Amino acid sequence: MKKQSRRTFIKSAGASLLLPLSTTSLLAKTSPAGLNTFVVPPLNTGVREGNKVSYKLSINAGKTEFFKGVNTPTLGLNQSYLGPVLRAKRGDTVSIKVENHINDVTTVHWHGMTLPANMDGGPHQPINPNKSWVSEYEIRQEAATLWYHSHTMHKTGPQVYFGLAGMFIIDDEGSDKLGLPDEYGVDDIPCTIQDRRFNQDGTFSYLNTMQDNMMGMKGFIIMVNGVVAPTLVAKSTLMRLRLHNGSNARTYNLAFGDGRPFHVIATDCGFLHKPFQTNKISLAAAERIEILVDVSDRKEVMLKSLASSGGGGMGMMRMMGGDKELNIMKIDARQAKQSTRKVPTILRKSNLQLDQKNVTQTRKFSLQMGMMGGGMGRMMNRMNGAENEGGMFRINGKSMDINRIDFQVKANSTEIWEITNDSPMAHPFHVHNVQFRILDRNGKRPHPSESGLKDVVLVPGHHSRVRILMKFPEYSDAKIPYMYHCHILEHEDQGMMGQFTVV
Ligand code: C2O
Ligand code: CU
Ligand code: CU
Repeated sequence: MKKQSRRTFIKSAGASLLLPLSTTSLLAKTSPAGLNTFVVPPLNTGVREGNKVSYKLSINAGKTEFFKGVNTPTLGLNQSYLGPVLRAKRGDTVSIKVENHINDVTTVHWHGMTLPANMDGGPHQPINPNKSWVSEYEIRQEAATLWYHSHTMHKTGPQVYFGLAGMFIIDDEGSDKLGLPDEYGVDDIPCTIQDRRFNQDGTFSYLNTMQDNMMGMKGFIIMVNGVVAPTLVAKSTLMRLRLHNGSNARTYNLAFGDGRPFHVIATDCGFLHKPFQTNKISLAAAERIEILVDVSDRKEVMLKSLASSGGGGMGMMRMMGGDKELNIMKIDARQAKQSTRKVPTILRKSNLQLDQKNVTQTRKFSLQMGMMGGGMGRMMNRMNGAENEGGMFRINGKSMDINRIDFQVKANSTEIWEITNDSPMAHPFHVHNVQFRILDRNGKRPHPSESGLKDVVLVPGHHSRVRILMKFPEYSDAKIPYMYHCHILEHEDQGMMGQFTVV
């Protein structure tokens, strides 16, 4: 793919002033419904030799036509924007060669994956321009909808925003036998949901205001798999949607326009015990859920994000990240064929054990933003010579420092992490290399839709407290750490991140 020179870019920006009115109005603040054809991302099952599966991802700069006649400079993996859906089976050893063909350092992190630290693709595995990196690991976890994305130090936000992300589906023997809709792109549909903001010349607008820095980068143009306002033509009356929030900051309050119920069958890292029926659910940045939706009424229905207060009270709505209603995608079921699939009654043998007797360590995390302790706090920090204290975004008083390991965890051990949000806005907290269970939120058992395996948990503002329970895997590495951080990518880039080793 050709990289665009600055000059041709300016020329095309000038040309865009002549866009037809319908296109320019698309660039305005609303997201219209159902204008475009839904695109199923290419499925990449790699090259298989027994249990070893090899993949190649080539990171390129390119241009993407989100609006007719408007070419937006983007980044992508094997295509101009986003990447293929990778797919493998538990027990496989995957070997993924990532080539960097852009003019900047980058990484590819396997979000939700249990794997050795040097294969994680975080800030410690940078890939320089014109270099490549091979990540190889065995898949030891259960069936789930994971994803991959850039995790470059201080640049995760812009690189993901411009397109460096994709989905990674894991299958296992159990998942094959559940009788779920499982025909890729037919009744089993990957949906990466993202919000974007565009400049009038069609380029992405990124970090233009103080608000973007503080609240994270949000836009009002919603796209699914890189398509603005798509219509998915349902081929079957029972659709399985793998909903992935690939946004930098936005939480979606998902519901159908007609309020119809649907079944949540899986969260971030695997199936729930039983399908959970609801008619709305929130999905924070980086979270995934799988849902089954019955469209046997053969109507057209809109998947929406309902308006929310953002947890700051209505008066503070915009400030604290609250939002108006948005359309995400339309499902057109007028031609749907009768499905032979049914909603299963049980998805996994038993409920996850919340066994706390093996817990050897409890750790506390405070999520903090804004000025610390006013001038006094900063002065104290300076006196103590603490370099990375007092940044705008912190965990336990400290901003991320790639040279500082915050703590060590013992391989195979079970821990409870207690995360308190000492800021006014919600933060989606993520831990690498583990799948956790939510023990409680402010002392109360979590909602049934959150009772499965997770790797991201949204912690609401104003001192909410969430406790998570997790068993660390057997992988150990005394030197190379894993990350834990807020998955609002602008917060991560500005320091709301820490590192731990497993030994
Ligand atoms: Cu989705 Cu640290 O990553
Ligand atoms: Cu991750
Ligand atoms: Cu945050």
